[in-house]
Amino acid sequence: EILKKLLLLGMMSTINSQIDFDTASLVAGEFGIELEQKIEKTAEDILIEEAPDLEEQLQKRPPIVTIMGHVDHGKTSLLDKIRQSKVTEGEAGGITQHIGAYQVELNGEKITFIDTPGHEAFTAMRARGAQVTDIAIIVVAADDGIMPQTVEAINHAKSADVPIIVAVNKIDRPNANVQKIMQELTEHDLLPEEWGGETIVVPVSAKTGEGIDKLLEMILLVAEVQELKANPDRLAKGTIIEAQLDKGRGPVATVLVETGTLRTGDTIIAGTAYGRVRAMVNDIGQNVSEALPSQPVEVIGFSEVPVAGDILHATPADKLSKQVAEERKDKQKAEILKKMTKVSLDDLFNQI
Ligand code: GTP
Ligand code: MG
Repeated sequence: EILKKLLLLGMMSTINSQIDFDTASLVAGEFGIELEQKIEKTAEDILIEEAPDLEEQLQKRPPIVTIMGHVDHGKTSLLDKIRQSKVTEGEAGGITQHIGAYQVELNGEKITFIDTPGHEAFTAMRARGAQVTDIAIIVVAADDGIMPQTVEAINHAKSADVPIIVAVNKIDRPNANVQKIMQELTEHDLLPEEWGGETIVVPVSAKTGEGIDKLLEMILLVAEVQELKANPDRLAKGTIIEAQLDKGRGPVATVLVETGTLRTGDTIIAGTAYGRVRAMVNDIGQNVSEALPSQPVEVIGFSEVPVAGDILHATPADKLSKQVAEERKDKQKAEILKKMTKVSLDDLFNQI
């Protein structure tokens, strides 16, 4: 009977033929039977089940602030002054070698800062769908002006739809000209509040510390409006900010926890890397057993070095994470192979 119905639909089939769901439900309908489709969950679906958070589970979290701007305009110095530490001196040639992520506290309110070496890292992370910035601080040297990388930073922040605060730095310099910088800002659609616009502009000096309290206050003000929240009572989800292979400790990754709480012992997966959190180190070098939303931590325990921008998930099942990581790896390999084959075929045709 079924084969007859199929034939009427124009399908020649045998008892062993496979038919798709739409055809099956059409035929079943002819017999007054309603079919239900059961979709098989992949290991990945089971491993990373993201239940939406309930409103009452959400708690206030610190803002994540990315510092961007032209080379040598004082991003790292500014962050140093904020932290009252001396990262710049330790860096080779004073150039930022990697992303640093730190947390500071002001009147009991935490702020997470990310220092960037140029904008590649920021772009790479955004390209991977990571939204790791709540507020962008664009640093402009008051004795210099808006430079190509400043414009790039402004454009990045705008396309990421992140509020911008401009820090006009180096105001201690004799040739500093804040008015000139504000004029230049207007040329990039950033009208300073002082001039009736909406862009917060704070003159600062990373050298003397002038204006830094004001800058922090402005950050907290913008964050307050954003009402940033996360659920600390769930398995952690975060972003790999940087990662490298450490001789003694193996793969080490700086993770920015976005939501949930990451704990030592948690099973984790990030891209094709998986493992278990063996140890965590906070931004001031202390061992910690948990990391809360918006907190950056170094994580030790990955099977391999994850890629910056990869999303980290803490997961319940141990064996499955290995399976999913391996499936992802196979998929990656297949894609690379596909690209390679395509390239070589094209090359072949070009040669003919
Ligand atoms: P990259 O990471 O290389 O892009 O540079 P950066 O933007 O982090 O600049 P950095 O903090 O390394 O500062 C560059 C130079 O400017 C250093 O020599 C700092 O000492 C100097 N500098 C930074 N801020 C100030 C400031 O407020 N006043 C003065 N006088 N010098 C500053
Ligand atoms: Mg720097």
